[in-house]
Amino acid sequence: MMSDTTMLSELAIATRQRRTFAIISHPDAGKTTLTEKLLLYSGLIRTAGMVRGRKGGKTTASDWMGMEQERGISITASAMQFPYKGTVINLLDTPGHQDFSEDTYRTLTAADSAIMVIDAAKGVETQTRKLFAVCRMRRIPVLTLINKMDLPGRPPLDLMTEVEQALSIHASAVNWPIGSGSDFVGIVTRADSRVQLFSKTMHGGSTKVETDTLPLTELGAHSRVSEEMLAQVQHDLELLDIAGNPFTREDFLNGEVTPVFFASALTNFGIESFLDAFVELAPSPGARSADRDDGTELTVDPIEMPFSAYVFKLQANMNPKHRDSTAFLRVCSGRFQRDMVVKHHRLGRDIRLARPHSLVAQERSTVEEAYPGDIIGIINPGVFAIGDTVSLTGGFNFKPLPQFQPEIFARLRPTDVGKRKAFDKGVTQMAQEGTVQIMRSLHDQEILIAAVGRLQFDVLQYRLRQEYRVETILDALPFSCSAWLDGDPSTFKSPSASMMVKDQRDRVVVLFGDQLMKTIARDRNPDHVLREMG
Ligand code: G4P
Repeated sequence: MMSDTTMLSELAIATRQRRTFAIISHPDAGKTTLTEKLLLYSGLIRTAGMVRGRKGGKTTASDWMGMEQERGISITASAMQFPYKGTVINLLDTPGHQDFSEDTYRTLTAADSAIMVIDAAKGVETQTRKLFAVCRMRRIPVLTLINKMDLPGRPPLDLMTEVEQALSIHASAVNWPIGSGSDFVGIVTRADSRVQLFSKTMHGGSTKVETDTLPLTELGAHSRVSEEMLAQVQHDLELLDIAGNPFTREDFLNGEVTPVFFASALTNFGIESFLDAFVELAPSPGARSADRDDGTELTVDPIEMPFSAYVFKLQANMNPKHRDSTAFLRVCSGRFQRDMVVKHHRLGRDIRLARPHSLVAQERSTVEEAYPGDIIGIINPGVFAIGDTVSLTGGFNFKPLPQFQPEIFARLRPTDVGKRKAFDKGVTQMAQEGTVQIMRSLHDQEILIAAVGRLQFDVLQYRLRQEYRVETILDALPFSCSAWLDGDPSTFKSPSASMMVKDQRDRVVVLFGDQLMKTIARDRNPDHVLREMG
């Protein structure tokens, strides 16, 4: 038996080692490639090119639905855990492409920091913008990686300006590229003026890159650096010193500044120093706020408080053979042990957390213990809903997860009216699980379904067919954005092509044909507030 003090310090050490984060990016910016390089530099894989699941045809553990296999995409977010230079990384997967959904957003609530990957040729794209907005609202610190520097891209200074303007955040360059496109040969770290020059290996980016380190003052003497490249770097660095933003870790942790790095995930140029900076800068799990039963607020310290966690994602039928469903919990405090009996706050009863598993490099394995920041998957015998809190002590609930602004809307009905009951039951169940949001129109109480991504509708229809034996017809509605309305709905001046509805919690939501309509509505209704998150 270990003494209490040994246990505590073990918990403190494990917590401080954790880095739980998500990668936010637009499809094709390089998220999968970067993930693979993390595994390469962690020593978990020797050569990159093995874990690509998405397009390469190799199936992943999260390929759980027939539909998913048909399309070759992975639908719900999962987590990977692996060691990296003295830290323990928990990387949450945030699905993109057509599988972009509320799960992608909710996953960010379980992250302590995020890496924003931007394609150097494309700059800040829509999906990145949306995910960044969630990080901003949750005050999650963000590191920026400008990727694909080995391809012709936009000038680095332009990209810095774009990050600042598009996302309204200060950007501070930690390193600067030397050359670009096929001439991208290295980076300068601004803090110590040290240069790293990279050499392409025989194996391309599948093995670690060879690096020469030298002081900036010796860069001109190097044969691979032309006079023009040197002049450009010197010019840019001088400009940054005069006009650039200062960087402090405190501002970063408060979400006020994003440190910017330049790299090429494909060739590994600049990747290791980026990852090293990431583990140094990114926070370990911190305290989270919760509500006590008496209505007062509680700060749940990850080390001081015994085990607690909340459900941020449910995944149905992950294993087609067993048709089971998995609840993903983020550990917020204390040490988790397999088969622990905890208090389920919403249900007001004790439950045993049996058969926990984690996904390590996409292999499912049983978890014996877990620490703050870790993600555990529990086979869910229908007891968990999104946002549920479990804890050893009981008596509190973590703050409810926000609902995210849906962007697609539809009417849904069963093809066979005789199946109405099963239909209602299925839709209600799936709205509780967070697959879709249900809304009702204000004037005739008609049921509408709403989602962030089209795939949520497909999942809903698929599951209604598989689990409730109900075939459905979906009529898309001509709205593309929405907002929660604060203020009296009867005095709200609706623009054309808009509609007022109520959500599951009886709050008024306005649906708009497009963003312009929303802007017009804001201008016309200065006494009302249109919120992006509910
Ligand atoms: P994603 O997960 O964000 O969607 O992007 P992913 O890593 O799959 O990268 C998208 C494409 O961009 C891939 O090429 C990948 O090889 C390439 N890529 C990623 N990082 C870099 C980089 O730093 N430099 C260059 N030149 N390319 C990069 P693909 O042809 O679509 O796929 P594949 O055939 O390589 O698998």
